[in-house]
Amino acid sequence: MPNPQKKPVVIVTRKLPDVVETRMRELFDARLNTDDTPMTQVQLAEAAKIADVLVPTVTDRIDRAIISQAGPQLRLIANFGTGVDNIDLDTARNRAVTVTNTPGVLTEDTADMTMALILAVPRRLPEGAAYLKGPKNKWVGWSPTWMLGHRIFGKRLGIVGMGRIGRAVAQRAKAFGLQIHYHNRKRVSNAIEQELEATYWESLDQMLARMDIVSVNCPHTPATYHLLSARRLKLLKPTAYIVNTARGEVIDENELARLIESGAIAGAGLDVFEHEPAINPKLLASERVVALPHMSSATIEGRIDMGEKVIINIKAFLDGHSPPDKVHPAMF
Ligand code: 8YV
Repeated sequence: MPNPQKKPVVIVTRKLPDVVETRMRELFDARLNTDDTPMTQVQLAEAAKIADVLVPTVTDRIDRAIISQAGPQLRLIANFGTGVDNIDLDTARNRAVTVTNTPGVLTEDTADMTMALILAVPRRLPEGAAYLKGPKNKWVGWSPTWMLGHRIFGKRLGIVGMGRIGRAVAQRAKAFGLQIHYHNRKRVSNAIEQELEATYWESLDQMLARMDIVSVNCPHTPATYHLLSARRLKLLKPTAYIVNTARGEVIDENELARLIESGAIAGAGLDVFEHEPAINPKLLASERVVALPHMSSATIEGRIDMGEKVIINIKAFLDGHSPPDKVHPAMF
């Protein structure tokens, strides 16, 4: 445990909102990254040697090498993010390093963006908007057969992962007249199914083959890596769309790109990619793909809430309590 006379050294790997950084400076010996240059693996390893608490984000790979070389003073990794697939949880547990995350506060923002992608792809939103602003704009006015997309009202939405975000997507989608279907490790309660008018599919394969739109809302874990594998992607109808605001690694990205290119899948709305920031060029080239730079949770309100959660987790831990958002490897 850090000496109570001395403020704990908290190393934050990326620039956070000003209010969060100010509070961190008040409470801790906060070492901030004000110019926001991502840290290299060597810099992360150095940080883990001196920090009492490390605050990484999705862009930092806190792997076995970093955790096993960390100094004995490193007791907490307080992730600024909900997904913890950037952290080797097993090594952290073996080294008795506690890991926390920031669940709940980015649910609504992520669900909003998921809904935006569900609308944007079939209704060709970016294409229409870019047409007017583009240098080739020769719009001559309305036409009955131009810019036709596909209706979403009444279609079947298959949600893969019915946790907080999946349920928030279902609520929104229901209001847009979509029929809600889902696959999850565990069936949700009767009350939730009834509220969402949701149909549970024990078999992901069977669900995929029948959906008009599939939304990925599960975390990335060893069990969900390439859950939408080449084999499963081929089960989709050629008129189906895929939306992913969870993690790129859940989908075999190369196969997705190939199937969209060949017309075997109608299109995709993607906020996350398997090898960020690299993106399969076929996806970027396709008019039937709306690609966003991992921005589903990017609201200032959400980032401040995430920062507050990080601070609460650190404070609780340093005060000797179990932090509210302690991650148990079995949860993921
Ligand atoms: C975060 C996310 O912004 O929290 C998550 O899991 O995917 C993001 O939207 C990012 O992870 C910050 O670390």
